[in-house]
Amino acid sequence: MNARLPVLVLAAALAGGALALAQHARASANGAVTWKSQSVDLPYPGPHFSGEGAALLNPSCSTCHSADFVNGQPHLPLATWKMEVLKMKNVFHAPVEAKNVDALAKALFDRHPAPAK
Ligand code: HEC
Repeated sequence: MNARLPVLVLAAALAGGALALAQHARASANGAVTWKSQSVDLPYPGPHFSGEGAALLNPSCSTCHSADFVNGQPHLPLATWKMEVLKMKNVFHAPVEAKNVDALAKALFDRHPAPAK
């Protein structure tokens, strides 16, 4: 294996970056750079949570999921919702405070009530 290849690739990348910076500086000095506003339509991921538990669910889950995605999940036992909240917190680093885990699990359980038997 050629140990020098990564070094050469890195050097080439740095040289390219320096060149781009130099070109940018030259363009700025000439006043040739003009900034324009752009309008971009992002896909709307569905409504935020509303109703019971929304004040906890929105800051904890909405950064990654739409409310529609979470509300559309099947009926799960309370303990399973707790595991789900812990998975989101511990594995995916959802912004969930430890003191809110139980309340979030309850809010999720309450919006997916088990079907009557
Ligand atoms: C930082 C991003 C992030 C946040 C915040 C987040 N999740 Fe997730 N969630 C994910 C990812 C990534 C997956 C997909 C996991 C997979 O494919 O295995 C997922 C999957 C899910 C699933 C599908 C079942 C599963 O486990 O794969 C549910 C239900 C879910 N999340 C609920 C929630 C709830 C409720 C919250 C708020 C308490 C939340 N998520 C917050 C990233 C996040």
